[in-house]
Amino acid sequence: MTMLETLMKKRNNEELSAIEIETMIQNFTDGKIPDYQISAFLMATYFTGMTIPELTTLTMAMMHSGDVLDLSEIPGIKVDKHSTGGVGDKVSLPLAPMLAALNIKVPMISGRGLGHTGGTLDKLEAIPGYQVEISEDAFKKQINQVGTAIIGATGNIAPADKKMYALRDVTATVDSIPLIAASIMSKKLATGNNALVLDVKTGAGAFMKKQDQAEALAQIMVKIGKEAGMQMQAVISDMNQPLGSKVGNTLEIEETLDTLKGQGPKDLLEVTLALAAPMVVMAKKTDSEMVAREMLMGTITDGSALAKFGEMIAAQGGDIGVLDDYQLMPHAKYEIEVPALTSGYLNRLDADAVGIASMRLGGGRTKKDDLLDYGVGITLHKKLGDAVKAGESLMTIAAEQADISEIIDYLQAHLAIGVEVAAPTLIHKIIK
Ligand code: URA
Repeated sequence: MTMLETLMKKRNNEELSAIEIETMIQNFTDGKIPDYQISAFLMATYFTGMTIPELTTLTMAMMHSGDVLDLSEIPGIKVDKHSTGGVGDKVSLPLAPMLAALNIKVPMISGRGLGHTGGTLDKLEAIPGYQVEISEDAFKKQINQVGTAIIGATGNIAPADKKMYALRDVTATVDSIPLIAASIMSKKLATGNNALVLDVKTGAGAFMKKQDQAEALAQIMVKIGKEAGMQMQAVISDMNQPLGSKVGNTLEIEETLDTLKGQGPKDLLEVTLALAAPMVVMAKKTDSEMVAREMLMGTITDGSALAKFGEMIAAQGGDIGVLDDYQLMPHAKYEIEVPALTSGYLNRLDADAVGIASMRLGGGRTKKDDLLDYGVGITLHKKLGDAVKAGESLMTIAAEQADISEIIDYLQAHLAIGVEVAAPTLIHKIIK
């Protein structure tokens, strides 16, 4: 079967066989299929979709296009969490040490910021000395000794996805549910874990703006993971406004530490518990999510989760002085308040606009090799549904320049004060 015949079948909405998909991915990875033919495949898939067998085969073929981590020398069930990306979404940072404090193994391979959404690795690099690039052996040793490690991809994980994503980016085929599902799951399956909880975000600041799209994506990813033998669960969580109160790299480490000290914002703790509790159950520490929540809260009250975070930082070369002294991390030169222009209730605070503002301040990248200003960002004093008085500060912006009037105007245009609204529901749905 030639690539032309595969394309004709896909165009005609006929189901591709496993061998057709595997051959296509293998040849694409090896550079034997031109970009224009894969681009045609992507566009045909965008319009015709994929059956579950096609999608499972595509995901597995993409996973096997590169290195697959073998974590079998680490005893016990290895659990992982993945978020589709949001603003102020720092959940992995408190979640990993809370689970590790319960003796659960949490090997995490994380990413950098993408567009307006922040990246866990960028946040961790606000901690002086923290190394996100460590060898596979050091990673496994740390999981055995500390229980958790958060690192960047080691080796060559899913190269077919890397090449395919670059084409999707320039052929208007990024927002295809099957293509997103295969992209995410090929990388997650390559990390060698046994259980995965997905946080699929929905709302203004999310990839999937509508809840039904988020649910469809979650359902498909759960199915693919189960087919591959993983324990799976997905949580659909809200991303209309940022999660927590702080957006920016240093600022989000500060909020993580506050959370581990029992002084963090309620919404961040709630999403962390909603994702971590099923992971405790998957790791077979209890069969009740209610009990799991109590166990997780116990790691905060007895200080063991904070101590674990310190152990992880130390193991990866970071300065554990930051646990007590936030000033050891980079901070911006200026702090500028954004006042409420009228009185009423905050009823719009677009998460994506806050993320873009933080990126424009220098906290995120517009190009792959941009250097970051770790200290910049935004601290929110009001969230959706809060009462505000004219002149009161809605947020503090940490900036490297004194004049950020353009960014303030941009933020003012993406928030609104008016009639009272209820705070949005945080957890929309659980998909098992
Ligand atoms: N994240 C990924 O890794 N892939 C996608 O296609 C979308 C989000």
